[in-house]
Amino acid sequence: MTRIPAKGRPWPELRAELEAAKGGDFSWRDARIPVFVFHLDDALTRVQQEAYCAYWTENNLGQRAFPSLARLEGEVRAMGLRLLNAPEGGAATFTSGGSESIYLAMRTARDWARATKGISTPNVIVPRSAHPQFSRAGHDLCIDVIRVPTTRADLRADVAGMEARIDADTIMLVGSAPSFPFGVFDPIAEIAALAQSRGLWMHVDACVGAFLAPFAARLGHPIPAFDFAVPGVTSISADIHKYGMAPKGASLLLLRDGALQEHQWFRFDDWERGHYQALVAQGTRPGGAVAAAWAVMNHLGEDGYLHCARLVMDTKARLVAGIRAIEGLSVLEPSELSIFAYRPAEPGLDLESLVAAMTRRGWFISLLAEPAAIHLVINPSHHVSADRYLADLRAAVAEVRARGARGQAQAATY
Ligand SMILES: Cc1ncc(COP(=O)(O)O)c(C=O)c1O
Repeated sequence: MTRIPAKGRPWPELRAELEAAKGGDFSWRDARIPVFVFHLDDALTRVQQEAYCAYWTENNLGQRAFPSLARLEGEVRAMGLRLLNAPEGGAATFTSGGSESIYLAMRTARDWARATKGISTPNVIVPRSAHPQFSRAGHDLCIDVIRVPTTRADLRADVAGMEARIDADTIMLVGSAPSFPFGVFDPIAEIAALAQSRGLWMHVDACVGAFLAPFAARLGHPIPAFDFAVPGVTSISADIHKYGMAPKGASLLLLRDGALQEHQWFRFDDWERGHYQALVAQGTRPGGAVAAAWAVMNHLGEDGYLHCARLVMDTKARLVAGIRAIEGLSVLEPSELSIFAYRPAEPGLDLESLVAAMTRRGWFISLLAEPAAIHLVINPSHHVSADRYLADLRAAVAEVRARGARGQAQAATY
């Protein structure tokens, strides 16, 4: 049991304790974590920290008190809308992360369908590879979320399967750009055309791809169209705190038609304090998250994002080639952007032992469940650790093969 200490303790002592507390963590600074963290270098980290601290105390709930935050947030929203080819009249909301952006998209679609079509028992159809947040939001919002198996050999959404599930209560179709499990783009243009032909809301979950795919495309990588350039795309979730390289707490929900925000507002008067209104699901919001996103986007600029995209795509190619060259391992195909998975493909080389051998070498291992495989989300800093990773992987495979030992199974938790 612990409790607030009766007497406060000096900061230097606590700072040392915090630093020591990290002793058992895996090192993101040495690029040993293949998920959760998006890091470029110490210089960008300094920009993130100083910009966040410049608005350390300001509350983004109070934009009348802090008009500078309204302006900075407006610029971040405008940059996102432009990047994703929103037409004139598009609108965006600055949220705390991908999960809130998805929640708001579903809540807005629900209230739009209720107001314009009288649908009171709505359902949303998503590929099974879509993020769990769609189902969580569905649970919270009383929307039935139908997950359609990704049966196609290319791991993408099964559009015909999704179409077969549409009924009179369907309000929204979803595609990922790309999906988190496989890193492939769903056929966004096909899903959007289907949505358009049935008068449905089409949401693109580009939480992963929004701030990477446009720059990878400019570098010549074959990236399918996934944004508002695709007719029929109604809304997009786009995380600035992933490949936008901002510190955590920054995402956008973008709408093709700003008039749809009428269904997004929560407006309330029935208490003594007067009118309350919000587009987001939060109350108090950190001003620092807005200031840091604004600073990172302006500091990196397009050339900085191209640099990040080059690092990510080159490192991924290097890792994929290196893993393919290790006998007994196979890389899941296709893998389009920055996410990929690989697994043992010979008897006697079991996944659990390989995971244990890599963990012993200081690598945090993230797992895909179906099929059982090791899962990586490449961030720009991985370019410094890729060669070490491959060397350790070669050694781990040799060790497991030599011992023929079986390790402890580890569940593929997020
Ligand atoms: C495709 C996709 N959508 C949504 C999310 C949720 O984003 P967040 O963790 O910022 O809430 C993630 C997170 O990894 C994701 O990969």
